[in-house]
Amino acid sequence: MTPDLFASSAATAPDAAAIEQLRRSLHEHAHRYYVLDDPLISDAEYDRLFQQLQAIEAAHPELVTPDSPTQRVGGRPLDAFASVRHAVPMLSIRTETDTEASGAESFDARMRRELGLDVTAPPVEYVAEPKFDGLAMSLRYVHGVLVQAATRGDGELGEDVTQNIRTIGQIPIHLFAPAALSAGSLVPEVPEVLEVRGEVYMRRDDFERLNERQREHGLKTFVNPRNAAAGAVRQLDPAIAAQRPLSFFAYGLGEVTPTEQGGPAFETHFQLLQTLKAWGFPVSELVQVAQGAPELIAYYESIARTRDQLGFDIDGVVYKVNILALQRRMGFVTREPRWAVAHKFPAQEQITTVQGIEVQVGRTGKLTPVARLAPVFVGGVTVTNATLHNEDEARRKDVRVGDSVVVRRAGDVIPEVVAVLPEKRPPHAQPFTMPLQCPVCGSTAVREEGEVDHRCSGGLFCSAQRKQAILHFAQRRAVEVEGLGEKLVDQLVDGKIIRTLPDLYRLGLTALASLARMADKSAQNIVLALEKSKQTTLPRFLFGLGIRHVGEATAKELARHFGSLDAIMDASEEQLLAVADVGPTVAHSLRTFFDQPHNREVVEQLRACGVHWEEGAPAAQAPQPLAGKTLVLTGTLPTLSRDEAKDLIEAAGGKVAGSVSKKTAYVVAGVEAGSKLDKARELGVAILDETGLKELLDGHP
Ligand code: IVH
Repeated sequence: MTPDLFASSAATAPDAAAIEQLRRSLHEHAHRYYVLDDPLISDAEYDRLFQQLQAIEAAHPELVTPDSPTQRVGGRPLDAFASVRHAVPMLSIRTETDTEASGAESFDARMRRELGLDVTAPPVEYVAEPKFDGLAMSLRYVHGVLVQAATRGDGELGEDVTQNIRTIGQIPIHLFAPAALSAGSLVPEVPEVLEVRGEVYMRRDDFERLNERQREHGLKTFVNPRNAAAGAVRQLDPAIAAQRPLSFFAYGLGEVTPTEQGGPAFETHFQLLQTLKAWGFPVSELVQVAQGAPELIAYYESIARTRDQLGFDIDGVVYKVNILALQRRMGFVTREPRWAVAHKFPAQEQITTVQGIEVQVGRTGKLTPVARLAPVFVGGVTVTNATLHNEDEARRKDVRVGDSVVVRRAGDVIPEVVAVLPEKRPPHAQPFTMPLQCPVCGSTAVREEGEVDHRCSGGLFCSAQRKQAILHFAQRRAVEVEGLGEKLVDQLVDGKIIRTLPDLYRLGLTALASLARMADKSAQNIVLALEKSKQTTLPRFLFGLGIRHVGEATAKELARHFGSLDAIMDASEEQLLAVADVGPTVAHSLRTFFDQPHNREVVEQLRACGVHWEEGAPAAQAPQPLAGKTLVLTGTLPTLSRDEAKDLIEAAGGKVAGSVSKKTAYVVAGVEAGSKLDKARELGVAILDETGLKELLDGHP
């Protein structure tokens, strides 16, 4: 508990030293809260101290100082930002264009050449840092007090955005030598003039929340965290800027005047960063010292892999020569230091145009609007279309044919239109509306109450749904008909050669061979593949029927529980609910499906065509060693795939979750386990390898 310095009333003459103590204490708590993420006191306790200071300052305005924690948000809206001349120019860094890991080798080779090192010389020591995707900022402190914050501008002249930057909780407005370390510690004193350079950015979760709030208030949303951060920094009204959640990482210095003792005399860039951290600035945990090219490559690859899991956007990594004496020796070319390089990752966002919006019909009749895009290379692949999900989503983004849009593809996530650029909209572009009829079969499209999706009401009358149903049945995870792909199914259905699933097995060699672009040999292969697919298993067959909400895991569970297809088809909803994986939605869906005579007819005909599997006796309730337990999988396991491990866990009554929390029973970690493993250690959650998981599944704890 912080001592109550002002237990009496704010009206009694306060003593300057005591106010200073209160301010210092508030600064320290804010630092622990915003920068270290490790508060010592509750929010309420902090608020109480803060209000105490406010009360004193209200009663004694002459005691208010600009660096008081109460003075972060203040000042009037500006008409324009004043210009600032940077005492030390704000440089940019040369970009290594090669977005392969080998870009690190070219950089290292260049450094060795410039330093005159031959092959026998030891590796050069570097610092590797993330390249934060925000805005460069120069923070000027005089006697430890933040006096000016300026944007980079053209590197010589920036804009004075001090009022806005003061509102960022992570940026100290008064520097203190860390209390516990001050006397005789290794942390140098704060120099009289200190310019700290770094990046102002917005965390992804803050960005999502901000956009959410903008939407609620009917205001414009931001395209990405970078744009939102830039908008906040250049906001003329500091009260509005204060509501935009910004963060900061320090990565370098500008002007610094030495103290009387001649300090701070840093020897390495890494040391400098550690000192900035000790003075209260946020420095990324991902900054690392690296020896030579191999460690730079390893760094590049590991950051590229974890990029999507970070809480903020980065667009690459930066390598810097660590020894400052070497940096000085190497100097600059025009506006760029010779001792640093930005090694970019492939861009995850690009601008392209919408050439059309089509509505696709899925297996279950779901209508999905899809934007057809002018081909664009983003996130490592060429993207030609992006889903707009459903009517609400398409309306919310207001994507129109002819629009220029920002397309994003991050990691393995499917490409998305993140925003429209309204200033580039062609005149007369029409808003998108969902069709009233299925674009394939003309049946009415319905959107049921409480649902977000429109569905074609045509069922298997709709050829799009029939095609999808056939492809679903023929896929590898169902009965598997090798070679029966989308093009062939289109030909067969559009040519009215087949209508239903059983028609597949009535296909003769002649019918197939007569299709355009079908060689005799391929036709033969399809016939063989169809023949082979007849011998299947109950779970595969059941999954292949494409019953809504019945995925592979549920199909397996149903087969295990009931043993035979007839038992499943005749089970009541109540009996179905007794199956581990089955809830009311699934039970209802199964019942509805098998209550339709034409679905039973399809099953009978498939059997008559020779599709068969081995049936078993209904299982006694299998032991459920993981009942009620939640597990998290991370990394690559030696023999089990993600899906296999998940199935096994679910069959044993457990659940698989995507993130680790206190409720997680076990984390199963394989090779290259990521942040989930760290989280498990942090929370003290039990960690297993594959062998441990198997023992658990067998009922040995
Ligand atoms: S160092 C003398 N380090 O990238 C070197 N810059 O063109 C000065 N950036 O405008 C920059 N992360 O805004 C440095 N870890 C990092 C960085 C970084 C992002 C930005 C910075 C600068 C641009 C370089």
